[in-house]
Amino acid sequence: AGLLPFEHEPYFNFAERNVAEQQREAFKLVRQKYVGQTFPLIIGGKKVDGDGTFAVHNPAKPAEVVWQFQKATPKQLEEAIADAQAAFEGWRYSDPMQRASIFKRAADLLRKRRMEFNAVMTLENGKNWAEADGEVAESVDHFEVFARETLRWAAGKPVYPMPDEHVTTIYEPLGVVACISPWNFPSAIPLGMALGAIAAGNTVIWKPASETPLSSYLMVELLFEAGLPKNVIQFVTGTDDVLGDPLVDHKDIRMIAFTGSKEIGCRIFERAAKVQKGQKWLKRVIAEMGGKDPTIVCADADLDEAAAGIVASSFGYSGQKCSACSRVIAEESIYDELLQKVTEQTDRLKVGQPEDNAQVGPVIHAGSAGRIGEYVQRGQQSARLVCGGGATDNFVEPTIFADVEKGDPLFQEEIFGPVLAFTKAKDWQHAIELANDSEYGLTAAFYSRDPHKIAEARRRIHVGNLYINRKCTGALSGTHAFGGYGMSGTNAKVGGPDYLFWFLQTKTIAQKY
Ligand code: SER
Repeated sequence: AGLLPFEHEPYFNFAERNVAEQQREAFKLVRQKYVGQTFPLIIGGKKVDGDGTFAVHNPAKPAEVVWQFQKATPKQLEEAIADAQAAFEGWRYSDPMQRASIFKRAADLLRKRRMEFNAVMTLENGKNWAEADGEVAESVDHFEVFARETLRWAAGKPVYPMPDEHVTTIYEPLGVVACISPWNFPSAIPLGMALGAIAAGNTVIWKPASETPLSSYLMVELLFEAGLPKNVIQFVTGTDDVLGDPLVDHKDIRMIAFTGSKEIGCRIFERAAKVQKGQKWLKRVIAEMGGKDPTIVCADADLDEAAAGIVASSFGYSGQKCSACSRVIAEESIYDELLQKVTEQTDRLKVGQPEDNAQVGPVIHAGSAGRIGEYVQRGQQSARLVCGGGATDNFVEPTIFADVEKGDPLFQEEIFGPVLAFTKAKDWQHAIELANDSEYGLTAAFYSRDPHKIAEARRRIHVGNLYINRKCTGALSGTHAFGGYGMSGTNAKVGGPDYLFWFLQTKTIAQKY
């Protein structure tokens, strides 16, 4: 109770000249301090080199190598897992108050360095200032939320009493948790998963995406600075042949926390099901995967608000969020008007350098731009291109297709780029039906002012995160527990009241005196 009350970390207002100036200064500092450097692995608390390095590129200037990271060897992976296992024997019994204090301290340390973390993120994953700031602020929230959750779960849960027995239900950690994270939220996503593990008393193998390792590295160092014992996290970077299947398959890994593509998530889920020689448990897997997130707009909705929400959630960070809106399903009677409003706003978006805080920046790399381009090419045969469609290097124009049929790949497949499909519905019930016509079920937005329709939407839309009269991105830690239905994953709901349960096992102790 001493930790309450909680408030979400406020965002910077970059419209204020001095705030913008500070962010510009932070870019200068980050360029001086980190660009050109090579960063180590952290195994057993020691910073070590691997077998060679790999380059991290600035997606907005693909020829620019910003920093280098090490390639861990198979032997180093073995050492990291052994060290994490040894550390678990101590950390599992650590005082929850100690864990909470470390997280509180880390929150304070991060608050002082938010602009630095923003700048690092922009240089390695191409987010503009506001997108990077939203994520770093979310990371501060994670520290604050997990501090409280640590204490809440440490208290156990009440059971119905017995007259002659003292019965308690307590929660104990699992062991070594491999946290495998994506490049699109390189700070908040690995942090959320790792804090889930650590808050519960587990130890962590932290494997960041190879596109964005510095956002992770700095977060790990910050946790150590805040007092986390150094062997509780093993930080490993490198290639998939060492850190992909071998990490997932390892007999001493107790749990895998994954966020990324459906393809890799399914692969992990399947491989983890196999009990390896010498393995003494069934591995637990939590996986947050993709989305094909719809925004449903009813005829009675405020169309200006809906359009603004659609543009922000479809094209913010070039649509590279699992939560991004990628389908608009609108009632026939307002379809054309809404399409026009969204297209007008989209046409006004300025594509440019994220370091200069352009509204829309690059996609992560040429491979991604190429894949998105193929969807755009094919889409022109099956639907009506009304906006965008072009690309220069990694910069893909915000693109809108109209009259997309429900069987079209534009309607069904996650593109992970700034490509939005508009589909016409006969009426609002039909719109809900179309929205649910997906293997995914991550986020959805529903715009209407009619309480009856809203009630139906609340019941019938099959997603983990449903937003009424607001955009479908920007879940806040502690408030909007995040995770989906169906092929969007295991629905572990990071930042929610039950998240820690996934990292724990339950012990019942019945005692007679
Ligand atoms: N949590 C992010 C959002 O809600 C996605 O990972 O946008």
